[in-house]
Amino acid sequence: MIVTIDGVAASGKSSVASGVAQRLGVPYLSSGLLYRAATYSGLNAGLSMASSSLKAPALLAQLERFPVQLQPEAGGNRVYQQRAGERQDITPFLHTSTIDAGVSAVAQLPQLREWVNAQLRTLPAPFVAEGRDMGTAVFPQAEYKFFLVASPRVRAERRVKERRDELDAVEAALLVRDLHDQKQSAPAPDAVVIDTGELGLEEVIARVMATLPLAVDSE
Ligand code: DC
Repeated sequence: MIVTIDGVAASGKSSVASGVAQRLGVPYLSSGLLYRAATYSGLNAGLSMASSSLKAPALLAQLERFPVQLQPEAGGNRVYQQRAGERQDITPFLHTSTIDAGVSAVAQLPQLREWVNAQLRTLPAPFVAEGRDMGTAVFPQAEYKFFLVASPRVRAERRVKERRDELDAVEAALLVRDLHDQKQSAPAPDAVVIDTGELGLEEVIARVMATLPLAVDSE
């Protein structure tokens, strides 16, 4: 069984995917973390993340030299990078404003999308896959698809709680990222769209679980 949970930035995808995966007892895959890891690798190599100058071959060469691997778990994903014979956990460096600002340029490179998708497709089902295009481009055969939305203000307020940045600046940055991510962020025709604005995390998880026929919620 494959469940896909796509949605706009800061719509609550990761927390919802993790909650659903834990209830189902399966791992979840955070595709965004792989895009973030590629961005981190590029920045570490001194590559410019400006769309006009970022070139896929240079970035892919870095990823070949210092391979990254996603470790999917129900409670949270981690990303490891092989560097100088050591396996380093780079997860703590992937949710910064610098990575946020550069990641859209990386996500626009078709070869980088293929690099991410190839890694995801090697993982055995069942799982919950979370991102932008899990239900459309990567796992169109998934049985259960969801797409989460929320207003820019609500999403900015959530981000500020995580990062302690300034609200208006966070909202403006989210709108820029929405624009860049638009191409790959449309809901699949067979996805259930959930507006998470008025709902708490547990309520969103409950809505998803209620749609899954395999859900066995003892409470
Ligand atoms: O979900 P996130 O914020 O961690 O994703 C980071 C970026 O990666 C986001 O700006 C868009 C891109 N992304 C994508 O293009 N496709 C995906 N399936 C997941 C993420």
